[in-house]
Amino acid sequence: MNEPRETSHGMAASQHDGQTTAGKEAGAMLRFENVSKAFGEKQVLSDVSFAVPPGEALCILGRSGMGKSVTLKLSIALLRPDQGKIWVCGDNIASLEGAELSKVRRKIGFLFQDAALFDSLSLYNNLALPLRRLSNKSWPEVEEAVHRTLQQVGLENDGQRMPVELSGGMRKRAGLARALVLEPKVLLVDEPNSGLDRITASEIDELLLKQKTERKTTLMIVTHDIHGARRVGDTFAVLEHGRFVAYGTAKEVEQSQSETARKLISERY
Ligand SMILES: Nc1ncnc2c1ncn2[C@@H]1O[C@H](COP(=O)(O)OP(=O)(O)OP(=O)(O)O)[C@@H](O)[C@H]1O
Ligand SMILES: [Mg+2]
Repeated sequence: MNEPRETSHGMAASQHDGQTTAGKEAGAMLRFENVSKAFGEKQVLSDVSFAVPPGEALCILGRSGMGKSVTLKLSIALLRPDQGKIWVCGDNIASLEGAELSKVRRKIGFLFQDAALFDSLSLYNNLALPLRRLSNKSWPEVEEAVHRTLQQVGLENDGQRMPVELSGGMRKRAGLARALVLEPKVLLVDEPNSGLDRITASEIDELLLKQKTERKTTLMIVTHDIHGARRVGDTFAVLEHGRFVAYGTAKEVEQSQSETARKLISERY
């Protein structure tokens, strides 16, 4: 899984041969092909290409404001690119609308940076709602799926609690449960460990790792926690000024030309 990948991704792909790379990575679960995105004058992504193969985890690193969350939001079409294609499970989500978009979104779990939950619904109903809306499950099946997912994140006794009653770590786990309840093929996670103590953070990392190894979910994780990233990630991308200035295994990024990349991948900083 961690074999060196020659010219294939990110910086190399976008600067040299995006099309060829895109062709080679046709089996990827998630693939950016020459994607650009600006807000007004601010160019957030410039011709970015990369691919995440099935069952692997890509960690996106980068300083604040560099476009990490934008990259995740593009992947689920909460934002649209100015240029380029975004392939999710074989469909270019950037060009989909309506029912077709919903169909692809159903394959994606998303843990927002602030673990968005519906504050007026109990934890149980936060999980049951997407199942009732988006799956064909019967009531007993919904109940079973909610219970199983809460158990997965260690909140099986907290289903009747309201979000306001949950601690920060519990909220993150609840957000993760919500993202997992539809058994997504692709899981997008924005800062799963922020604001958590070391032990709780590593519990979240364990959950993500399990999701990857046992359920073969494809992951894209944005994180400032390099310790956790190195536990879960197969590949690391460092985003700076609209481009991936480094892309590869942890070892490859450690040897990057980019000082930012070397600092971000190092556990000493
Ligand atoms: N909906 C939006 N409208 C306008 N500008 C936006 C929007 N979303 C993001 N931006 C801008 O895009 C840039 C990248 O934002 P993004 O949220 O992706 O940063 P980030 O890398 O996730 O940072 P952090 O580590 O602080 O979460 C920022 O300059 C931000 O202000
Ligand atoms: Mg962010």
